[in-house]
Amino acid sequence: MAKKTIRDIDLKGKKVLIRVDFNVPMQDGKITDDNRIVQALPTIQYALDQGSKVILFSHLGRVASESDKNDNSLYPVALKLASLLKKDVKFVSTTRGATLEQTINAMQEGEIVMFENTRFEDIEGKKESKNNPELGAYWASLGDCFVNDAFGTAHRAHASNVGIAAHHKDSVAGFLMEKEIKFLGNAVDEPKRPFVAILGGAKVSDKISVIENLLTKADKILIGGAMAYTFYKAQGKEVGLSKCESDFVDLAKGLLEKSKGKLVLPVDVVLSKQFDANAPARTATTTDIKTDEMGLDVGEATLELFKKELQGAKTVVWNGPMGVFEFERFAKGTIGLCEILANMEDAITIIGGGDSAAAAINNGYETKFTHISTGGGASLEYLEGKKLPGIECLAEK
Ligand code: 3PG
Repeated sequence: MAKKTIRDIDLKGKKVLIRVDFNVPMQDGKITDDNRIVQALPTIQYALDQGSKVILFSHLGRVASESDKNDNSLYPVALKLASLLKKDVKFVSTTRGATLEQTINAMQEGEIVMFENTRFEDIEGKKESKNNPELGAYWASLGDCFVNDAFGTAHRAHASNVGIAAHHKDSVAGFLMEKEIKFLGNAVDEPKRPFVAILGGAKVSDKISVIENLLTKADKILIGGAMAYTFYKAQGKEVGLSKCESDFVDLAKGLLEKSKGKLVLPVDVVLSKQFDANAPARTATTTDIKTDEMGLDVGEATLELFKKELQGAKTVVWNGPMGVFEFERFAKGTIGLCEILANMEDAITIIGGGDSAAAAINNGYETKFTHISTGGGASLEYLEGKKLPGIECLAEK
């Protein structure tokens, strides 16, 4: 059943609680990627245009002790949001109490208040992360309705999403949440075929449920990244010093058998003797990995093979890089894949968040995909076929 969205409720003059996922990467107090903030702007702007009072909140990082607060304040995020909206954002440096309540009660239509990191409530008894009912009820009491636009956090049942939703019959999805559900949901549940999934990243163990779910849905699954080496080992190949999960070799063998040819592995790999950005490298076939070498990327023959497998595909979902893309020398597989997908005509191309999304955005492919998810863990769980609590808690249409 479809979920209600922000379009389905009356916002005029209302105090609208909007849960966003502004858990953005930061270095030395500076935001290094503002994509999650940018992606939330349509919902915030719409609520302002409707004449509501916008109350924003998010988590940022993990907060286990008082000292963690220093590095995890949302204040720089509020400044960034103000500069993107070209509008004042009143920041309240607490998560509850008289100052927050008075600031909200004094709001005029068209104003924005953002309060501090919801996980500051985790210091004493993980109140936010354990969905403390009193905390969810308190935050809910600050507004007239609840809009959840935090897809990136939808796999968590926390006080700031599930907890608040329990207290508002008008708990609805924002535009970003709606977009994520539409693209990821349709891709997995009603894909235009052929449907090809591409999975990379370091560990098979992280992606077992995704592979199992997609084996029942996708027409092909292309495998890249370090997790390919666990599959090679399952095929009895030498993997040298490559990352390989010995405990999952039998499972990988089972998946290969079950896949009946749906799983496609890289045919060549870029090898090095050290895990180093400047280490000398060579490309070899997968039967030619020496005991003192490790695989750090896929080779050109693999990209050619993947291009062929992708020919004519109508839906493509990609999650996980092809190699160590943080090192320029080993980024060619991941960038090459971006290039192939960017040039596909007539295909819905979706990146399921995380590292592959960062790689695509940082290499200039941001506008070349149909959809780049803002969720890492959340989109993975969606691809596993799981129900996400942050979506389930919203009202049905
Ligand atoms: C994410 O970045 O994946 C989400 O914001 C969730 O963050 P978490 O893993 O700290 O709950």
